[in-house]
Amino acid sequence: MEKLCLIILSIFTLFTLCSVAPVAATARMLYVNDTGIPVTQVYKYACHPQRFKDLGLNIEHFTYCDKSLSYEVRAKDIIDRLSLEEKVKQLGNRASGVPRIGLPAYDWWSEALHGVSDVGTNTTFFNDNIPGATSFPTPITLAASFNKSLWKAVGQAASTEARAMNNFGQAGKSFWSPNINVVRDPRWGRALETPGEDPFVVGTYASNYVRGLQDVEGTENTTDLNSRPLKVASCCKHYAAYDVDNWYGIVRETFDAEVREQDMIETFVRPFEMCVKDGDVSSVMCSYNRINGIPACADHRLLHDTIRGEWDLHGYIVSDCDSIDVMVNRHHFLNDAPEDAMAQVLKAGWSSVALLLCSFITIYSIILPSCLIISHLIILSSHFS
Ligand SMILES: *[C@@H]1O[C@H](CO)[C@@H](O)[C@H](O)[C@H]1NC(C)=O
Ligand SMILES: *[C@@H]1O[C@H](CO)[C@@H](O)[C@H](O)[C@H]1NC(C)=O
Ligand SMILES: *[C@@H]1O[C@H](CO)[C@@H](O)[C@H](O)[C@H]1NC(C)=O
Ligand SMILES: *[C@@H]1O[C@H](CO)[C@@H](O)[C@H](O)[C@H]1NC(C)=O
Repeated sequence: MEKLCLIILSIFTLFTLCSVAPVAATARMLYVNDTGIPVTQVYKYACHPQRFKDLGLNIEHFTYCDKSLSYEVRAKDIIDRLSLEEKVKQLGNRASGVPRIGLPAYDWWSEALHGVSDVGTNTTFFNDNIPGATSFPTPITLAASFNKSLWKAVGQAASTEARAMNNFGQAGKSFWSPNINVVRDPRWGRALETPGEDPFVVGTYASNYVRGLQDVEGTENTTDLNSRPLKVASCCKHYAAYDVDNWYGIVRETFDAEVREQDMIETFVRPFEMCVKDGDVSSVMCSYNRINGIPACADHRLLHDTIRGEWDLHGYIVSDCDSIDVMVNRHHFLNDAPEDAMAQVLKAGWSSVALLLCSFITIYSIILPSCLIISHLIILSSHFS
């Protein structure tokens, strides 16, 4: 299996659909084209007529670019055009895109734990053009302020910088932050990444930081949460009971967390519940470890029944990097072959695998030729089984 972060449980396509007039092209600005190569090309959204011309395509033939149609119809149009092989190629963090139908490549991996960071696979990076982003205090320090509006304000500032960077091709629009594992033992070593040891404080931090990252001002009253505008997509990780990294041979990938039901509900899962229900987060990342014997990413009850069923997630569940490889080659879970393991995780997240279409629509504003945001999430089912 390729050493990529597999994005599981959904097929993802991400693209920018509509926009305002293109920003005057500044010479030497850096963008990433459909093959991931930095170029000086300036297309800020996928359904740009000139972009289609450059690809030798007639945009009129692509229903998914028709803004007058619903997201469901547009998403189905994309999926119906994809071969099985093309669908599979969109499952890793580096979604290949499909140039023959105008679908751009996209890398899902950006991070904003306490400000936009360049951790990841070159999706988010700094150079002479944008030499850095604001680095806010670490979450454990921010949490110590016990100030909800501050947590939200930091998220808002980080996502504004993220969108500005995205305009220059120097960041994605999906961020695998925040880390909301409740700290139960300082030997974990990652306590500073988290809001600490109190499940309620951690959950409150999560929902406020996520709202800061994701919410577009003025759209708070959107009634259809599946088409709620997003500034960027955020992700609460790592679900769940994950606070061990490497302790006398017990490593994060393979340890089996033995957790009583009460501790699961009151401690380990509670912040995720708040993140999904109160923060309306776009994504939850399942962790490498097992919980009471079952790999978290293959646990139907924890993923499908709880996150999707009880909490009503409007978004996608993503694995940690190579979780399925870990499941097969290190957990040896059920002695599954890679194909069976893949099926297990897909089934754990969905009864019938769904498509998530995450489209970011750009509207103008703020700094640089920066944009404030917007995206809509659409979830369709039954396209891939
Ligand atoms: C991306 O840019 C590279 C370098 O300019 C070029 O060779 C390649 O054809 C471009 N790909 C697309 C799909 O535009
Ligand atoms: C990231 O970019 C650097 C510099 O362009 C390159 O050397 C490196 O191979 C890239 N890494 C990945 C994982 O693509
Ligand atoms: C909480 O944070 C806000 C900024 O969001 C700040 O204006 C306010 O003074 C802070 N409250 C306290 C009590 O420090
Ligand atoms: C959302 O609804 C609340 C309560 O009705 C109202 O006070 C607020 O102004 C509304 N916000 C927007 C952006 O319409």
